[in-house]
Amino acid sequence: MSVTLITGASSGIGAALARHYAQPGANLILHGRDAPRLEAVAQACRDQGAHVETERLDVRDRPAIAAWLKNLDARRPIDLVIVNAAINGGDPGGDVETEAMAFETVDVNLVGALNVALPCATLMRARGNGQIALVSSLAAFAPLPDAPAYSGTKAALLAHGLALREKLKPHGVRINVVTPGYVKTAMGSEYQGWRPLEISAQDAAARIARGLARDRDIVAFPWILAAAARGAALLPESLRRLGMSGFKFKIRVGR
Ligand SMILES: NC(=O)c1ccc[n+]([C@@H]2O[C@H](COP(=O)([O-])OP(=O)(O)OC[C@H]3O[C@@H](n4cnc5c(N)ncnc54)[C@H](OP(=O)(O)O)[C@@H]3O)[C@@H](O)[C@H]2O)c1
Repeated sequence: MSVTLITGASSGIGAALARHYAQPGANLILHGRDAPRLEAVAQACRDQGAHVETERLDVRDRPAIAAWLKNLDARRPIDLVIVNAAINGGDPGGDVETEAMAFETVDVNLVGALNVALPCATLMRARGNGQIALVSSLAAFAPLPDAPAYSGTKAALLAHGLALREKLKPHGVRINVVTPGYVKTAMGSEYQGWRPLEISAQDAAARIARGLARDRDIVAFPWILAAAARGAALLPESLRRLGMSGFKFKIRVGR
């Protein structure tokens, strides 16, 4: 019985991934903070036949996260961890984000992600088996001027994940970086602007699961936007900036 841990499973892509993996024989560890939303996702997965445990922790709480993962892995070795929890940062007025918001984004999206991924990597390396997916974004390739901290955290996850993939491969640990385009979720709907080729969370979950099953180094979608974002990085900076001018947005306050 495979054991899959998903952070940020109380909403959006994480919730859709939980439902995607939920089937008889599956062991799901679902993490989030909002109790009613997390429990609703857990119940839906149990209804599909999965065995489900939930945990509510802030990913910024490194000691609590480390203790939880150690205990969990000792009881049931984790096969797959999807490090998905994040916030979008940005300024609601379209201004430069405040220092406080930028640091909070770094703390949750980058340090919080590593708080989960690195202890799992250590545990998996020790037993020579496991898979860790870091959910980044196409913003890692094409930074969004209206979300500098968000783009920076996602680029850092991409670089860290790809580098770690090489180092851990000989030890039986697979690392994958997931870079979605626009996905219809609570976070997605906070971005008020052009959202080309937006897909549903369910569709995103199916694409992620397919990429992880094939052990793709980068699971990027939709392919046209992914190709444009990756290609843009090769352009002279003035041209790249011009192309990005169509992707301006404002953050909507409140959900
Ligand atoms: N939606 C898009 O268009 C899009 C595009 C590219 C990449 N992504 C990435 O996909 C992932 C999921 O995004 P989403 O759109 O599904 O977002 P979402 O619906 O807003 O869900 C975010 C999840 O992260 C959890 N979370 C946030 N801060 C947390 C914290 N400090 N501690 C623990 N959990 C925390 C939330 O838990 P609670 O709600 O319970 O607090 C929630 O479950 C993120 O990494 C995001 O950057 C999204």
